[in-house]
Parts: sequence; C-alpha cells; structure tokens
Amino acid sequence: MLIRLSKNTFVRQFGPFTYVLGRIRSYDQMFTDAEVFFRWIGREPLDKSQILSNICGVYTGADQEEIARDFDEFFAPLIAEKIVLCGETPEALDAQDESFSYDVENPKTMDAHRINPAEMPEGAIPQEVLEEWFAEHPTIFDLQMDITQACTERCVHCYIPEYNPVFLPLADAKRVMDEFREQGGVGLALSGGECMLHPDFDEIVRYARKKDLVVGILSNLTLCDDAKVRLLQEAEATVQVSLYSMNPETHDAITRRPGSFEATKAAIEKLRAAQIPCRISCPTMKANYHDYLAVLDYARSLRMDAQTDFIIMGKQNCDTSNLACRLDLAETRSILEDIVFKSVPMNSEYFNPEKKQYLLSPEEWKKRKVCGACVSSICLEANGDYFPCPGFGSVILGNCHEHDLKWIWNESPETLRIRAVTGASFPKCATCEDRDYCSTCMCRNFNETGDMFKPAEHFCKVAKLNHEIVDEKQRRMIGEGQ
Ligand SMILES: C[S@@+](CC[C@H](N)C(=O)[O-])C[C@H]1O[C@@H](n2cnc3c(N)ncnc32)[C@H](O)[C@@H]1O
Ligand code: SF4
Ligand code: SF4
Repeated sequence: MLIRLSKNTFVRQFGPFTYVLGRIRSYDQMFTDAEVFFRWIGREPLDKSQILSNICGVYTGADQEEIARDFDEFFAPLIAEKIVLCGETPEALDAQDESFSYDVENPKTMDAHRINPAEMPEGAIPQEVLEEWFAEHPTIFDLQMDITQACTERCVHCYIPEYNPVFLPLADAKRVMDEFREQGGVGLALSGGECMLHPDFDEIVRYARKKDLVVGILSNLTLCDDAKVRLLQEAEATVQVSLYSMNPETHDAITRRPGSFEATKAAIEKLRAAQIPCRISCPTMKANYHDYLAVLDYARSLRMDAQTDFIIMGKQNCDTSNLACRLDLAETRSILEDIVFKSVPMNSEYFNPEKKQYLLSPEEWKKRKVCGACVSSICLEANGDYFPCPGFGSVILGNCHEHDLKWIWNESPETLRIRAVTGASFPKCATCEDRDYCSTCMCRNFNETGDMFKPAEHFCKVAKLNHEIVDEKQRRMIGEGQ
C-alpha cells in the first residue's frame, strides 16, 4: 500500500504542532504529537510498511501493532478527506488527486489559509493553546514579494509612488524563498508593480513551487499570454486580478493605459478556460462607482470569486494626491447600502449584523493585535527592503542584502516594534463606538496622516456610516421577525 500527500496538501511543523493545509477542501488543521507520523509522508509515494517501520524505529520498545493501529486511526479521516492519498499503485494515487474546477456547483478558490482555530472541528487543539503558543513564537505564514516596482499601468489610485525599473534579482528571490521555507512559511504572493514584467518571473514561480510553497499571483494580467497560463497551471498558482469596470473606457481611464481592459479580460477568460483559480478584485472609486456591480456579475457568470473594496489609501511615501479618486461620503453610503442590504461581497466581515453579538469590550480589544503584519506576514520590496505589509513603505524592517529573514523576523527592532502594537496603541480607536465597523490599519493611517496610530478623518466618517447602516439592517431584520 502506497501513501503520499495529495498535491494540494501542505504540511509544516511549528514547535509541537503539525499544521496541515488542504487547499481544495479548505482543510486547515493543527495536530499535536503528529510529527513522527508525518515525517515520511511527502510528495513521493512510500510504502506503508516502510513508513511504519521507520516510525517504529523512532519509538523503539513500543508495541508495533499498537503503533500501526494508531497510525490507521489517525490517518483514516485525512485519507477520507483526500488530504493524504493511499492506494496500491502510483497511478491509483494520481487518480485520487483533486484539481480545482469551475465546473462544479460552488467552485472554491484555492487559497492559502492562516490558522483559523474558530473553524476547527471538535477535538482539535483548543484556540487558547494555539494563541498562547503563537504569541510566544510569532510565526511567518505569508510572504508577499513585490518583485518589481515597474508596471504596465499607471492606475489613478495606486499607492506606489514611482514605477522604477527595479527588479529583485533572481538569486535574492531564491535565497529569500529558501529562508522563508526554512522558517516554516506557507503562502508566497508575487506582486509589484506588475510582477510579470520581471525577466525571471517564470523561474521565480517555478522555484516557489519547487520549494513547496502555496503560490499566489497579484497581477493586472496585461502580459499574461498562453505561456504564462501554462506556467501558472504547472505551478498550481492562484491569481488575483484587478478589473475596474466592464466598460473598456472606464477601466482604461483608471489604469491610464488604453487597451488594458481588453488584455485583462482576455487573460481572465484564458485562466478560466485553463481552470486556474482566479479572483477578481474591483476597488471602487469615483470613476467606476456605478460599474462595479457589472464586474461582480461578470465574475459570477464565470463562477469566479470577486470582491469590491472602497478603501483607497494614500501612497507609500505619504503623498495623498491619489486620494482625489476616492469616493466621497454620499457615494460611500450608496456602496455600503449595496454591501449591507444586497449582500455584495466585500473583503470584511464587519458588515454582518449577526456579528454584533461577538463584539469585543474595549479592554479585550486593547489586548488584541490589529492585523497580521509582523505577526504572521511580511512583505519584501524589489529593492530588498522588508516592509510590514505591501503599502507600508515608510517602515523598513531591514534589507535582504544585509540580513536574512530569520533576523528580520526575530531580531529586527522595527519588526519587534510593529509586532508589539495592540489595540491599546490606538487611543482614539480603543474607546470608539464605531470601532467594530472599521478596519484599524497602521498602514492606511500612516500613509494619510503620517502617524500610524492616528486614523484619517475619512476612515472614521466611513466607519460611522457603516455602523448606522448595519444598525438599520438589524432594525429591519427585527421588524421582519428574523
Ligand atoms: C498594488 S497592486 C499590484 C498588483 C497588480 N499590479 C494589480 O494591480 O493587481 C495590488 C492591488 O492593490 C490595489 N491598490 C493599488 N493602490 C491602492 C490604494 N491606494 N488603495 C487600495 N488598494 C490599492 C490594486 O487595485 C490591486 O488590486
Ligand atoms: S494598481 Fe497595480 S496595475 Fe495599477 S499601477 Fe499600481 S501596480 Fe500597476
Ligand atoms: S472610526 Fe476612527 S476612531 Fe473609530 S476605530 Fe475607526 S479609525 Fe479608530
């Protein structure tokens, strides 16, 4: 009997915990005392008797039959979920490997999942245990590599100050991926600028896959030809693409590149035909504020994931001239009403009135981290600088030419400073009654006000609006007897 991991399964050991991610099934679990059981289960099939013999070699003196029974019991649910594959021949294993498909009822976009203890089934490791361990051992799950500042577009809202032809050298990209993998990293996002402009894009993608990373691409897809589609298919990559309107003039007016709509739309459809999981992102601004619903409908017609967002932030260098394109309050109200009353997908859960019952007290909120920057994720810029997150260009954690990722993550004073931030660092937010309808964000604050703990007035007004609209929905739900 042969055993191997499914091609969609990623396993990492974090101290005493074995983390298992299954992309197709959104399987995301942690186990204790499972390292030895997983030690010989990799991408290549291995005979079960060999695996058991290796395990017995670790537990010398233990009852071998009992080990075999425990092994079967432990892996039965994982085999049933096709997280681990088991069969007589390599071909039988290959036949069980699942691939993402749009041709099913509800296609799931394959995605890197952070540990989400709330979703764990009964009997899994309790949330507090995990939280305590990860608080003491901050662990890097996600790395975004902005491999170039150069871009094929010049979007009106873009937070990148200059599109210099700076490319992260291939050797540095590979070394950082090695270091990331060494640290237990899981999800690698390649972005920019336009990442497909990088002369070594193909090699970087292949290397990421070789390092057993979950590869995500953030791109405008204007350079995505058939060869790139094949590359993404081979690397089992997922894609996030920006599409601003179904009206070519409106899209091209935002990207300031004539012809970009046709190029992006054609590439989206190629990815769809190649069954590559793709999500459409449609940030809304003045120019496309009436068009975004058509983009969401288009995505739906392709059975593709899509979401909108109206939060436009200032540039990385605190230049706020790009914010002229941002929706004013009346326009934001209208889009919020769509989100709350028409269930338009939005990249946040605070629009859900049912969430009200889970709101945190100010004391609880002050103790919480506000985001994953330097807690579970980090970003590398094309010039080698590490940032806490992609837009947060003013806080440089260190440079990859001077320090390895282990130092950046564990010792950089700037990393430690950002990691220490909790709700308590935001005096205005901690006691704000609209706080739970707001995304407290150091980066957005900094880029607009020059102080990462000082929110821009615009965000506060939007949060207040959002609060009012969610309250209104709740009143209507009570009125309807729901
Ligand atoms: C910086 S781009 C890089 C990837 C690629 N060039 C693209 O446009 O998809 C990543 C995403 O950030 C969004 N974005 C750019 N500037 C932004 C801003 N100031 N505020 C919010 N989102 C922004 C883009 O619309 C895009 O969806
Ligand atoms: S949003 Fe993306 S495509 Fe547009 S200019 Fe910025 S990096 Fe380029
Ligand atoms: S509304 Fe303003 S003060 Fe309140 S939480 Fe949001 S950013 Fe902070």
